[in-house]
Formats: sequence, C-alpha cells, structure tokens
Amino acid sequence: MLKDGVQISQSLGQMNIHKKNTMTNESVKSKVQSVKIQIEKALANSLPNENTWPVKLHKAQRHALLSPGKRFRPLLCCFVASGLGKEDEAVILVGCVAEMVHAASLILDDLPCMDDADIRRNQPSTHIEFDESTAILSATALLNQAFSVISKLNNVTDKTKVMLVDLLSHTVGSNGLIAGQIADLSNNSSATTLKDVEELNTLKTGALFDFSIESAAILSNASEVKKKHLKEFSRYLGLAFQLMDDVKDKLMSQEIAEKSINRDIGKATILAIKGSSLSMEILTNYLKKSKESLIMADLSNLNAFDVLFESQFSFLKTYQKIK
Ligand code: IPE
Ligand code: IPE
Ligand code: MG
Ligand code: MG
Ligand code: MG
Repeated sequence: MLKDGVQISQSLGQMNIHKKNTMTNESVKSKVQSVKIQIEKALANSLPNENTWPVKLHKAQRHALLSPGKRFRPLLCCFVASGLGKEDEAVILVGCVAEMVHAASLILDDLPCMDDADIRRNQPSTHIEFDESTAILSATALLNQAFSVISKLNNVTDKTKVMLVDLLSHTVGSNGLIAGQIADLSNNSSATTLKDVEELNTLKTGALFDFSIESAAILSNASEVKKKHLKEFSRYLGLAFQLMDDVKDKLMSQEIAEKSINRDIGKATILAIKGSSLSMEILTNYLKKSKESLIMADLSNLNAFDVLFESQFSFLKTYQKIK
C-alpha cells in the first residue's frame, strides 16, 4: 500500500512538465489563483441574482454553481487556451459553461434515484437544501443557461459559436456524459472489464474534460495536430481524475472527500475490479500518458500544468500518508 502511495508521489514530483519554463513556480501559482478569481466572478455574474423570481430556483442554481468547487474544468479551458496564445473574456466564459454543465450533472448525480448523496462540497446537496423537484429544475435551467452563454459571447464569430454549441450538445448528450451516467447506474456486473469501465469513465467524466480542452483549442484556432494530442491529454486526464475520485469514495473519509462517500458500493469501478494496489499503478500510468500527450501538444505554458496537476491530484499524497 505504501509502495502505491510512493509511486504516485514520485509521479507527481518527478514528472514535472515545465519544459518551457518562462515563469517561476510562485508566479505560475499566483497566475492560477488570479484566473480562478476571474472564473468565480464570471460564474457569479452568469446567473440571475437570488432575489430574482422564481427566487427558490435561482437560489438553488446559485447554491449548486457557486459552492466551493475546485473549478478544474474552467481552469483547464483557460490554461490550454493560454498555452495556445489566447487569453480573453470568451475563454473564461466558455470555461464557465463547462462548470455550469458540471454543476448540473452533480445536482442530478446526487439525487436519491442516482447516487443518493446528501453532501456535496461540504454542503447539503441541492435536493437536500431545497427539494427534489427544485433540484431537477435548477439542473435543467443551468444546462439551458450554458448554451445561452455561448450564444452571447463577444468577439467570437457565429461560426465558432455554432462549433461550440455542437461540441457541447454532443459531449453532454446521449452519446456523451448522459450516456456515461446511464451506463453507470447499471454498472454492477461481475463480468465488467477494465476496458468497459474505461469506456464508461471516458463518457461520464471524460466528455466534459473534452469539452473544456477542445473548446479552448477551437477558440485559439489550434492546428489539427495539436488538437489530436490535446484529445489524448484529455482522455488520460479524465480517466485519472475519475479513478482518483473512486479512491476518495472508497478509501477516504467524508471530511477529506468533502462529499458523501461509499456511494460506489456494488459498482464495478476500476478500484472494485482491480483492487487498490493495481488501481494505483493504473492511475500513475494514466497521469504519465496524459502528461506525455500534453508535452506533444507543445503548449507555451507547460509549467502551469505542473501547478494545476499538483492542486488537483495532491489528494493522493493524503492517501499516501493515511496508508
Ligand atoms: C466530481 O468532480 C465529479 C467527477 C466527475 C469525478 P470534481 O472533483 O471536479 O468536483 P468539484 O467541482 O471540485 O466539487
Ligand atoms: C460523477 O461521477 C460523474 C458525473 C456527475 C457526470 P461520481 O458519481 O463518481 O461523482 P461524485 O463522486 O458523486 O462527485
Ligand atoms: Mg455518479
Ligand atoms: Mg456521485
Ligand atoms: Mg465519485
């Protein structure tokens, strides 16, 4: 067990990808922090305020969207675009689109008919704080609002907006995130293979990573070759992220996970199929492949991704200490 933790720690510590290290680590950290603040502001401005009728619905939307999430998807969008030479309001807003869809997916995911989870981001889930019907309607409204944000982007051509809408409808729809979620609900067979779960995780979690990263590439007019490498980056990052999330559910306390745990009992996750030791090797390998693809994509700010990875995957070091 300790060995697994050490492997992960090594993969985080030694696989630094700051090939193009033009900024110090401290300045990269403060850049990430300042982008996060801009994302928070844009998110808060993206919804009607909570005194706007229907008050309960808008309160529920704001509860789900503005609660303290890690904002990994919008950060990915912003830093991929930045590495491709694009930093502007449109990138931040498209990152917020990903976060809105993410928040909607979490509201639905927590419902009693799905994962039945009462705590999300250390707060009551939306259906607990409000009620189930308000939760479902607020998720639907958030999804709707996400498309509206794209349609209203400034300094983005209509053609690009249509590309983004098309990408979003595909990645969220019945061949993307929703496909993954419905497959997840019946993912309890002992015949499930690693490949089956990877396919499922690529849909339920990877789809939104794909949107966050590909939308940045579209806004930045990235070459097809860069898009191809970024797609691989996204695939392995999504797989790593979901496997880490499954580790939280099975092996962590609610206090550390900051959400209800043991929601995956009976599910054929990678952790359930392969056990914790092998799962850690698989996770290390996903992270390695994701970083290799990112290097191939040749962004100008690779050192920023060291900071982003560290902030998102540092949880694995907690796991190592506990073990
Ligand atoms: C949780 O995502 C759901 C998954 C797809 C694993 P995050 O771990 O990014 O959740 P927040 O946004 O930080 O709460
Ligand atoms: C969530 O997967 C994926 C989506 C919401 C699309 P999980 O069910 O594992 O996420 P958590 O653990 O509830 O955050
Ligand atoms: Mg779920
Ligand atoms: Mg869940
Ligand atoms: Mg989970």
